[in-house]
Parts: sequence; C-alpha cells; structure tokens
Amino acid sequence: MNYIGSKYSLLNFLQNTISTVTNLKDHSEYVFADLFAGTGIVGSAYRKRGYRVISNDIQYYSYVLNKHYIESTNPSNAELLEHLNTLDGIKGFIYSNYCEGSGSKRNYFTNENGMKCDAMRTELEKLYKNTEISEETYFYFLASLINSIDKYANTASVYGAFLKKIKKSASKEFKLELLPIIPGKKGKVYNTNINDLIKQISGDILYLDPPYNARQYCTNYHVLETIAKYDNPILHGKTGLRDYKEQKSAFCSKRTVTSVFEDLIKNSKFNYIFLSYNNEGLMSLDTIKEIMSKYGTYTQYTQEYKRFQADKEQNRNISANSTIEYLHCLEKE
Ligand SMILES: C[S@@+](CC[C@H](N)C(=O)[O-])C[C@H]1O[C@@H](n2cnc3c(N)ncnc32)[C@H](O)[C@@H]1O
Repeated sequence: MNYIGSKYSLLNFLQNTISTVTNLKDHSEYVFADLFAGTGIVGSAYRKRGYRVISNDIQYYSYVLNKHYIESTNPSNAELLEHLNTLDGIKGFIYSNYCEGSGSKRNYFTNENGMKCDAMRTELEKLYKNTEISEETYFYFLASLINSIDKYANTASVYGAFLKKIKKSASKEFKLELLPIIPGKKGKVYNTNINDLIKQISGDILYLDPPYNARQYCTNYHVLETIAKYDNPILHGKTGLRDYKEQKSAFCSKRTVTSVFEDLIKNSKFNYIFLSYNNEGLMSLDTIKEIMSKYGTYTQYTQEYKRFQADKEQNRNISANSTIEYLHCLEKE
C-alpha cells in the first residue's frame, strides 16, 4: 500500500540499525512491539525473523491488516477467493456514498468497482456472522479486500479528495487478491491509543513510528476505515468524511506532541526504544534528544530518504525531494 510514512523502503536501514544497537540474535523469544503499525510492514518483518510481535494502531483498517499479518497462522483461501471474485455487484454503502452513479457526487471508485466492493464486504460479514468462516479467515479476506480496493481508488493517493475524471488504474475491473501469509510466532494486535496501551505491555524492543506532521491518518484514509468497519456512518461534506473525533492523533499537533511523546517514553517498559522521525517533523531533533536522554542512553542514526509524493507530476527539484530520516535509539535505564 502507498501509505503516508510507510517504512517499506527503509526496512533495511531500520533492521540493520536495530541489530547493531541491541546486539540481539534472531529466532529468539524476544518481544518486538510495533505500536504505530500502519501497513504492518515493520511488525511483519520481525515476525518473520522469529520475534513475538505486539502490534497496534488507532485506525481500524490498520488493525485489520495487522490482525492478518501478525496473528494469522493458517487461514483458508482458494475457494472463497473464487467465490468473492465472481459475485455480482450490489448497491450498498460504498456505491451509494463513494460512486458518482448513485448520485452521491463523489467519485472515489467506478460504479462497477464500488458495487463489487459492496458485494464482497457484505458476503464476508454474512459468512463470518453465520460462522461459515473462522475469525482468522475473516480477517485474512478483509485485510486483502482493503489492500486490493486501494489500488482502484480514484485519488491522487490519499482519500482527502477524489479526482474529477476516472484515472486509468481506477478504471480497471476490481479483482480481489490475497495478501501473503507471514510465517512465524502468532503475535497480538490492538486497536487503541498508544498512550493507553503502553501502560499495559512490556517487552524487549519498542519501535515507534508516529505521524511526523499535522496530516491526520483518520481524514486521509477515511474511506478505507469505512470499508473496514462497514458501519453505515453519517458522512459529512464534499469528500464524505466520517466522524473522527476519537481518532484524532495528539502526535499531529505541535501543541500536544511533546507531552504525549514524553508520556510514552516515560511509561514504556521495554529495554530498547527506537523512534523513526525526520528532520521536518513537528518535534525538533533537539527536543527528541532531550526527552529520550532523560530515560537512558541515547544515540541516533540517519539515512537520506525520498519524500512521500502525492502526485508524481509535481515538478520539484532534486534537493527538495529528499529528507533525512532519523532513527533515535534509547537503551532504557
Ligand atoms: C507513520 S504511520 C506508521 C507507518 C508504518 N510504520 C508503516 O510502515 O506502514 C503512523 C501511524 O500511527 C497511527 N497513529 C497515530 N496516532 C496514534 C495513536 N495515538 N495511537 C496509536 N496509533 C496512532 C496512524 O493511524 C498511522 O497508521
């Protein structure tokens, strides 16, 4: 998934630095926590390496993705995939609210793809409620549905707005594709505010990847949230936002970020803490260093990183296209 702040292309840098700092050997009994999990790419990498992973995110679509990546052991697939892909489309919530043909005036998906998505989402819920599929299979297919439908979204990249004309990738016929199954120990996934969760868990390595700036995930990915929850929310405005009061992140506001960050570090019961942040984030590098140093031995590592681009056609110059990614490391006392 093309997700704001995804660590997909920084995985090597993160894993190498974490290994250097902790000196822990793989395939051990260690607990790795990925508590701003997003797409789940970091937690998945550590599950594969043999760690017991704890994962968390405040967004429900992320919870669904991680339920699959971190907790699935042996979900079933082949027949159900064929069944869902051959269903006739229906006029459900997605079609009625995110497709132009329904009169919604919103153009997030073609009418056909919106109806297919409704048919699959409705069928999955029915099969699960009737106990015809296991919880594991339900989350496997729901995670796959979220990941697949995102590739057909008629947006520049996030759901803060839709495009007027249907773009090429969105015009193709929607086909559900299954996500990979991650081998390794079964972990545990939460869907809550990190500052609450941190008081209840402990482990060896805590990886923190908060939002860096004021862009809230709840408003940029609201359509995926609704597909994941399928809870018939009341939508507001031209872009069809659902209510997001409970999911607004204090890490996205200059006024609150420092205190929630310090609260997190202070309450962490982990031997090692790693924080991803860049040189343009709401908290300054000095503030981060000052806070982390209060609680143990602090070091930092850097890597140049290509900026997240919503629109590839924007004509930015080379230097403005990259930022410096920091991995702030703390060995807690
Ligand atoms: C930079 S993204 C993480 C990206 C992830 N590491 C990846 O590679 O896909 C930050 C994530 O933090 C989540 N988030 C923001 N505030 C949160 C909070 N207070 N508690 C839990 N999760 C939060 C967002 O929903 C978002 O998915």
